[in-house]
Amino acid sequence: MIALASDHGGYVLKQAVIEHLKERGMGYKDYGCYSEESCDYPEFAKKAAHAVADGECECGILICGTGIGVCIVANKIKGIRAALCHDCFSAAATREHNHANILTMGARVIGTGLALKIVDTFLDTPFSDEERHLRRIAQIED
Ligand code: RB5
Repeated sequence: MIALASDHGGYVLKQAVIEHLKERGMGYKDYGCYSEESCDYPEFAKKAAHAVADGECECGILICGTGIGVCIVANKIKGIRAALCHDCFSAAATREHNHANILTMGARVIGTGLALKIVDTFLDTPFSDEERHLRRIAQIED
């Protein structure tokens, strides 16, 4: 199950991500927002990030105008490793090296085509499981 959230700035891109996940046959839970009406990104980012931290969802995708606000919010929650990615290299590297469990993107920064490629890269890249990465990730939680 993939946790999704956005604010008004990310709503339209989140709808495209939802359609894409449906085409891929992947389960998701949408923690809001549910329209383009102006709202506050922390409310929705917190709900989705807690769902990942609590194990309700395996990973999450959070979208706002820049991807920055939702990333800051998510990374304040224990156990969350959220990565802001606007290219496929970063999306693959953050899964392999940081075992990121949340992808964040800015809908005002990249187009839908690239965003969906980044989603695929993030979801399809496994953690490398190498000792040095496990060690470093453990140090994040210290
Ligand atoms: C909303 O205007 C905008 O501030 C928000 O989507 C996001 O970019 C915040 O980081």
